[in-house]
Order: sequence, then structure tokens, then C-alpha cells
Amino acid sequence: MKKIIYPDQLEYISSFEKKDNALIKKIERYAREHKVPILSKDSSNFLEHLIVITRPKKVLEIGTAVAYSSIKIGRNLSSGGILYTIEKSNDKIKIAIKFINKAKLEDKINLLEGDAQEIMPKLKVKFDFIFLDADKEDYKKLFDLSLSLLKKGGVIFIDNLLWHGFAASKKVPKKYASSTKHIRSFNKMFMKTPSLNTSIMPIGDGIGLGIKIK
Ligand SMILES: C[S@@+](CC[C@H](N)C(=O)[O-])C[C@H]1O[C@@H](n2cnc3c(N)ncnc32)[C@H](O)[C@@H]1O
Repeated sequence: MKKIIYPDQLEYISSFEKKDNALIKKIERYAREHKVPILSKDSSNFLEHLIVITRPKKVLEIGTAVAYSSIKIGRNLSSGGILYTIEKSNDKIKIAIKFINKAKLEDKINLLEGDAQEIMPKLKVKFDFIFLDADKEDYKKLFDLSLSLLKKGGVIFIDNLLWHGFAASKKVPKKYASSTKHIRSFNKMFMKTPSLNTSIMPIGDGIGLGIKIK
């Protein structure tokens, strides 16, 4: 099949990019300066569209970092919608709270502090939409926990399935060898999950999208 996306095409598409608000730009700057990994622009735009289309009442995010994606989700929730977001790093939690307050989304975003592997089994809520964006080594366990919390018809959105291109690459630097192995084995398992209708989309760093069918 012929490739249709080349750098020229990407540059052309990004020429239409809409300016985001000052707070979002501030968080992007903070993340860049402090080397906090956040969703790519394309992936976060896609995520925002999905939240608007699917109108979830309850959303779970695993991996808040400094609340960049949390705010993008929170600002698109319909009335009555709520986001639970889990983060284990105390330093990031402090910054995330600051940004969530600045965005005036305290009522829509419930930040749960601690390790998702301990918090998720205790949750009594079921979710319409789950966004998994945590340590890649934990993806399999967090994915299994997510499936048990996802309602039938619900959507799971997973970032980094192309893992900086290394998932599909023959040459993987030593530093990425172990994480790439985890992502590759995760992708195989994810695409064969019987309870989900799945695909991996070449958006940003690779988005896994699953819809719970049973
Ligand atoms: C890629 S960042 C999240 C970025 C964020 N979703 C965004 O796009 O703005 C991953 C975050 O997940 C957190 N994390 C990783 N494993 C976790 C776990 N088991 N429980 C809670 N937080 C976790 C890390 O501390 C880190 O801040």
C-alpha cells in the first residue's frame, strides 16, 4: 500500500492548527521544560473529539502527570460528567492540583493519589471511558484492572502503542529494549482481547482504541 502521510502533508495539516488557551500553552511549556511526558497534540485532539462524541458520564484516567490531558478531558465533559484520574508521583500531584484549580475544573476532576494498582481494585464505580497512560511495564496489569471497570459499550484509549517508533523497528536502542518488549507483547495481547473490538491507530505515538463488546 502507498504511504499517504509525508512530512509535507503533516506540515500542511498542522498549518490549520487552532491556537489553544493560555493555560494549556502554559502546561505544554511546563511539560517541555521539566521533561514531563504528555499526550501529543494529535492524540489529545483525538481524545477531546472522542469525549465530545461519546459523552461519557464517568471517565477514568490512569496517569495524570501534570493534568494536561485531564484538563482536556474535563473541559469537554457534558453536564454531570466526572473524571477520576490517578497519579502516584507526589511532585506531579502538587502541580496537577495547581493546574486543575486554575482551569476551574475542581468539580469535574477527582484526583486520586497513589498507585493505580492499589486504587483500582477498590473502586466501586464503573466507567464509560478509560484512558490508560502510565508506566509501560505496568500496562498489562493496569489493562486487566481497566477491563473489569469498563462498562459494556465503553471505550478504552491507550497511548504509546508505537512506543516512539520502536515497537515496529528492527533496531531498538538498549535503553528502550525492555520497554519495547513490554509494548510489543502488550499489543499482541490487546489486539486479541475477546471482550474488545480493537485497533491501533497511527496517531501521535500510537493510540490503542478498544470498545467493550461483551
Ligand atoms: C505519560 S505520563 C501521563 C501524561 C498525561 N496523561 C498527559 O497526557 O498529560 C504517565 C504518568 O503516570 C504516572 N504513573 C505511572 N504508573 C502509575 C501507576 N501505577 N499508578 C499511578 N500513576 C502512575 C507517572 O507518575 C506519570 O506521571
